[in-house]
Amino acid sequence: MTQPATRPSVIVDCDPGHDDVFAMVVANHYAKLLGITVVHGNAPLTRTLPNALISCDVFGINAPVFAGAERPLIAPPRNAPHIHGESGLGGPELPPVTRTAEKTHAVEAIIELVRKHEGDGVWLMPLGPLTNIALALRMAPDLGKRIAGISLMGGGTLHGNRAPHAEFNIWADPEAASVVFNYGGPLKMVGLNTTHQVVITKGFVERVAALKTRKAIFAAELLDFFSTTYGEQLGVYGGPLHDPCAVFAVTHPQLFDLRPKRVDIELYGEFTRGMTAVDERPIVASKKGEPNALVAYEPKSAEIFDLIYAAVAAESAPA
Ligand code: RIB
Ligand code: CA
Repeated sequence: MTQPATRPSVIVDCDPGHDDVFAMVVANHYAKLLGITVVHGNAPLTRTLPNALISCDVFGINAPVFAGAERPLIAPPRNAPHIHGESGLGGPELPPVTRTAEKTHAVEAIIELVRKHEGDGVWLMPLGPLTNIALALRMAPDLGKRIAGISLMGGGTLHGNRAPHAEFNIWADPEAASVVFNYGGPLKMVGLNTTHQVVITKGFVERVAALKTRKAIFAAELLDFFSTTYGEQLGVYGGPLHDPCAVFAVTHPQLFDLRPKRVDIELYGEFTRGMTAVDERPIVASKKGEPNALVAYEPKSAEIFDLIYAAVAAESAPA
């Protein structure tokens, strides 16, 4: 069964970014996508916003798009052109932007959408630096109690990627991450320890390309570019499809082993700033150690790729 029993209401906050695009596609297919908020990250907001609009056009996503923060709370703006290209969406020829963003700022939109749809149980799904989410939590102190939870792609229990001990989304705005990890409500963390087990293969790229639709060819070109740049960084072709995993942690939680852990964000370490310090001790040793997150382990990668394929292959709007 590819459709979840119930379609959760979600807001995707993203920095497209190749893997963000596939998260948008699966959120649109398997959830009730209330809105897409865009943040700086893989590329400057001047790129991530048009990339989100273009992706909505190519993949037939009708959710409203809102522009958000163009820089972190404290840290300097930093991007990832070595992975995503200067445009943030390297690979396919990008069509002209035909969609327009809403006038409302992303932070206000998050607050307004949650209050409007509170009864539905809205999940926030941040897939980039957590700047928009932190600002929303600070601007509306009631927000944390009105949402069903936050399911984020970020951090990890092992090594980092942009830094030895820090994953990009957390590393790019550690102060925002600290606000989010201490908001006090339900939080799912899908980190590199999981997403590095969900790696694109040439066979998957060919499977998607064989659909021969405009959106499938666009998708295949994204997958190939992302896998090639990762290959240049790591020596092996294949990009981890990080961001869709944070969507599936809500729509298909059975695809992961979600374990309660205490997670703290390192803000001051000379070598560890941006690290998600996950308490892996078998027994929580102190009150400070009370679990604040469900951390994802052991993804069912084959099923994840089947779900992504089904969403890209789907012709009409979701049932
Ligand atoms: O470290 C991987 C994360 O950083 C992903 O969300 C990717 O899109 C980038 O935002
Ligand atoms: Ca992202």
